[in-house]
Amino acid sequence: MDIVMIGSGNVAGVLGRKFTAAGHKIIQVVSRNRAAASELAYEWDTESASYMSLINKQADIYLIAVSDNALGEVVEDLKLPGKVVAHTAGSVSKDVLKNVTDHYGVFYPLQSIRKDISYLPDIPIYYEGSDERAEAILGKLAGSVSSKPPRIADGNDRLKLHVAAVIVNNFTNHLYTLAEQFCMKEHIDFRQLIPLIEETVQRLKTSSPADTQTGPAARNDEQTLQKHLDILKDHPHLKNVYIFLTESIKQKE
Ligand SMILES: NC(=O)c1ccc[n+]([C@@H]2O[C@H](COP(=O)([O-])OP(=O)(O)OC[C@H]3O[C@@H](n4cnc5c(N)ncnc54)[C@H](OP(=O)(O)O)[C@@H]3O)[C@@H](O)[C@H]2O)c1
Repeated sequence: MDIVMIGSGNVAGVLGRKFTAAGHKIIQVVSRNRAAASELAYEWDTESASYMSLINKQADIYLIAVSDNALGEVVEDLKLPGKVVAHTAGSVSKDVLKNVTDHYGVFYPLQSIRKDISYLPDIPIYYEGSDERAEAILGKLAGSVSSKPPRIADGNDRLKLHVAAVIVNNFTNHLYTLAEQFCMKEHIDFRQLIPLIEETVQRLKTSSPADTQTGPAARNDEQTLQKHLDILKDHPHLKNVYIFLTESIKQKE
């Protein structure tokens, strides 16, 4: 399929790589960020444009991968009658595109995506379309880049998935960041914890996380908890997070 990519950030960069690897052609990258758009266009041997008014009207699909808040503004004057147009946001309704075309939808990649990575990650796609045509074409595109069958998800399902995704990825990564900062200050090598992190993820493949919780909070080991809080007295922010999560584990919600 011929695709116009709107946006030149992480999702545009990685989905574009997946599309070209699957044999699709990116015929244009449109982005206000001229340098980033040129870089992607060079990578995909295509053209770039900095203004929506210069958009190529010959594509089969227009994929809009810009910040959630920018979607309304980016499509304000965009008219692509007869074309399939989709955005990539988990928490934005497909209807933000309803004045652009009759065939609109969402193409949501349920993955943490950064274009500075050197490999192509597996990316499950959740999609929906405003009509049969949009849904069929977005489903076909999703199937061509995903190792698992893509799934249809409406706005409500997608919003809930996005909340869960923020918890398992963004929050977990933030905890790794806090732990790494703690390790640096306490002269411990954070990488010593990698086998533990890997084992935690490995278990998720066969067990519910609720059944595999270990640690002093799960055991109500008060003396150990107190020793940890004593160590954390020089790390007030991390201490607050530790107390909050300890209480959450004790409540077993
Ligand atoms: N990254 C992920 O893990 C991920 C996963 C699933 C879904 N998504 C969704 O995918 C979409 C793009 O995310 P991303 O991670 O690719 O974001 P990003 O890397 O921050 O890139 C955002 C893009 O939007 C452009 N942009 C921002 N504000 C704009 C405006 N007012 N007018 C025109 N362009 C504007 C940026 O241009 P500048 O460079 O000029 O700022 C950039 O090209 C979001 O809806 C996000 O929710 C992201």
